[in-house]
Amino acid sequence: TSAPDPSSPTHELVVVANRLPVDSHTLPDGATEWVTSPGGLVTAMESVMRTVDSGAWVGWAGAPGEPPAPFEADGMSLYPVRLDQQDVERYYEGFSNATLWPLYHDVIVDPEFHRTWWDAYLGANRRFAEAAAPVTAPGGTVWVHDYQLQLVPLMIREKRTDVRIGFFNHIPFPSVELFSQLPKRNSILRGLLGADLLGFQRESDSLNFVAAVRKLLGYHVEGMTISVPGLGAAPVREVEVRTFPISIDSAAVSALAEDPQIRERAVQLRHDLGDPEKVVLGVDRLDYTKGIRHRLKAWGELLDDGLIDPHDTVMIQVATPSRERVDAYKQLRDEVELTVGRINGEHAPLGRPAVSYQHHSFDRRDMTALYMAADVVLVTALRDGMNLVAKEYVASRPDLRGVLVLSEFAGAADELRAAVLVNPHDIDELKSAILRALAMPAEEQEEAMRSLRHQVMENDVQNWAHDFLERLEQTGRLEGSSAPV
Ligand code: ADP
Ligand code: G6P
Repeated sequence: TSAPDPSSPTHELVVVANRLPVDSHTLPDGATEWVTSPGGLVTAMESVMRTVDSGAWVGWAGAPGEPPAPFEADGMSLYPVRLDQQDVERYYEGFSNATLWPLYHDVIVDPEFHRTWWDAYLGANRRFAEAAAPVTAPGGTVWVHDYQLQLVPLMIREKRTDVRIGFFNHIPFPSVELFSQLPKRNSILRGLLGADLLGFQRESDSLNFVAAVRKLLGYHVEGMTISVPGLGAAPVREVEVRTFPISIDSAAVSALAEDPQIRERAVQLRHDLGDPEKVVLGVDRLDYTKGIRHRLKAWGELLDDGLIDPHDTVMIQVATPSRERVDAYKQLRDEVELTVGRINGEHAPLGRPAVSYQHHSFDRRDMTALYMAADVVLVTALRDGMNLVAKEYVASRPDLRGVLVLSEFAGAADELRAAVLVNPHDIDELKSAILRALAMPAEEQEEAMRSLRHQVMENDVQNWAHDFLERLEQTGRLEGSSAPV
């Protein structure tokens, strides 16, 4: 049974995500080292969970095979879920990251469909649901995250009719035409509709989801409330769909930017690059959705055209390793590294780079120093749920300096209207936007940055979590949706 065991601890709030906030790494001497997991989901939820009393997080510790025993970290209980090598290949690398990820990001690369991957996705989702159900307190709340776990809401509801279930999708939800390509699409929709509240990043994502439910399942929809046929005593269950743009711990990032040691580090960084007049920065997981190829193409052409002088202007591209065994990611890495090599071969002055390429992780302090050292940050995603890098840059500039170039295809573009907005597919437009950003006078930078900061400082991740959880509580109560199905 998945009911709570009276002798074990349970939690009022249980977060379920594919990854735990920390990854276990085995060192050469056999000892285990824990490092922060990559990506925006962890950045956001880690700071939310730090403020919650005795919350729990159910997720994968990042390595196949026997998981570590449950443990406490930062006042939170972590429950590692087991994924075997085959689950990693079929559920994580396969269905999650070679089927759903490209499909939900508007097929920037072709999604692959394999029935064995679906079976693994189903099995892994069941394991996450089985791990979460027994550790949730009676009447408690389960908050499921992201595309890897879309079947979990219904699976938990089938085990625990007393809990409230929320789901938040960190990535885009595609148009109904694209979503319809997905084999097993109706099972995915039904899985999600096991929740009481479904949250999406942009209004367009919420609308796409509701349109898919209407078209593919034919359920009655009124406004953003969906009537889902019940299984037992209750004839229908109401599920609410809403938009909650995610954010960052804005005050914490801004405070780091005021730290004298980090300011000093930013000055040192520029010095190490040869004290150029301008530093341009890109920070991304090495993912094809981020538009790194488009950015490098624009940069290379600006150098070729003589419109940027590599003696005055340096680009730093931080590209965190990601999903390295998935083909499209291997290919992207090869292409990016070849292009960076070519640009440097042709344009770098002796002894320093035209593009400084960093294929590794930085800690939060170094990341803030990088943002502070950057005159321009380029966020050129071809598709992105939100893009927290854009918000981190803004929060890192209490000095009101710096220019954000932001793709209109990133969720952040709905809110950060004072950025230099671009269509990254249009290389000429991207080149002009970069030149405009590099030439922007100080007063204009200040005016834009003031407006951007107003947005980011007011709407932080604590508010986001509070809004979601408050709405979830109301949805459960008003709609009576925690009644048995
Ligand atoms: P995604 O979730 O797709 O990776 P986001 O921009 O929303 O994209 O979030 C990325 C997060 O990962 C940000 O918090 C960013 O600071 C962090 N990050 C990106 N690259 C690195 C790196 N090399 N080292 C440390 N943190 C990184
Ligand atoms: C994005 C996804 C997250 C994911 C992260 C890192 O932020 O929305 O769900 O955890 O990328 O990707 P990874 O595959 O390494 O977990």
